[in-house]
Amino acid sequence: MQSLFLVSKNVSLKQLIDDLERLEKEAANNITLAVEKEELEALRIQFFGKKGHLSKILGSMGALDVSERPIVGQRANLLKNQLQELIAERLYKIKEKSLTDLIASEDLDVTAPSTGRPFGKRHPLISTTEQIVDIFCGLGYSVHEGPEIENDFYNFAALNIPENHPARDMQDTFYLENDLLLRTHTSPVQIRCLEKSPPPVRIVAPGRVYRRDAVDATHSPVFHQVEVLAIDEGLDFSHLRGTVMAFLKTFFGDLPVRFRASYFPFTEPSVEVDVQWKGKWLEVMGCGMVDPAVLEGLGIDSERWTGFAAGLGVERFCMVHHGIDDIRRFYTSDLRFLDQF
Ligand code: DAH
Repeated sequence: MQSLFLVSKNVSLKQLIDDLERLEKEAANNITLAVEKEELEALRIQFFGKKGHLSKILGSMGALDVSERPIVGQRANLLKNQLQELIAERLYKIKEKSLTDLIASEDLDVTAPSTGRPFGKRHPLISTTEQIVDIFCGLGYSVHEGPEIENDFYNFAALNIPENHPARDMQDTFYLENDLLLRTHTSPVQIRCLEKSPPPVRIVAPGRVYRRDAVDATHSPVFHQVEVLAIDEGLDFSHLRGTVMAFLKTFFGDLPVRFRASYFPFTEPSVEVDVQWKGKWLEVMGCGMVDPAVLEGLGIDSERWTGFAAGLGVERFCMVHHGIDDIRRFYTSDLRFLDQF
């Protein structure tokens, strides 16, 4: 194209207007064909640059009659505006296209699961808790929760464990200010629940509990329990036994079960329940008929209302169920262990 626009001393008005028209056509054509930003920039310099076609044409205007010069000037200005607009439009299209190409090439699916990050799983203690709670919900129990920071009354006194009672020795805990302590069992939820809603009640209360125990394969200062409480008219030991048997059968299947006489301050009589697993008897829960002293302490007529309570350790259940040898495995976040559930 360069060679077409020669600077000459003897140009006529017609020649220059022709040159401008030719430039217009060719430039418009080249701009529409440009596919890269850089190409457009090169074209812009070619047309409007200091040594560009337009300045060459304008440079030859000196040879024209003074009256003719504005005609060429006006025409050249018009052309310049027109081409600048064309370049801007083309630039926009090129940018738009490179963006669509980029999106298409990245094949971005915002709904796709991310790669390289494994799916999380429910912790075995959570799923065991849910399994236990589910069974009781199926028997008509409702779920209650209580605070992990308790006071002496709910954790001990109201459960028939007065100060200096030897049962406190086995449940030493972490004491906070103002008579507060970390609960040693979920049994205080029994009291909180009976205070709020008078019998009949059927509740199941899962939660975290604390003891001043040294860590070993079967002990942890923080562990989990599920509490069960049923108070109604006419409940007796057969209801306790039937409920515990139904629960254990649903959870473990048909394992041999043994009831052993025991002692808890808040139940009378009290029993511990064992299941036979791989030839061994393993203790899985404590239970008993709620001691009338607990009910009377809450102003509930123990001649009319009777019931049973049970408490079980989630870790213990989970360990027996899955044949886990060491309680510490639950708390060390080792994915090789957790992945198996
Ligand atoms: N709270 C007892 C403990 O942590 C477990 C327990 C035993 C709960 C007998 C009960 C029960 O409700 O009746 O050792």
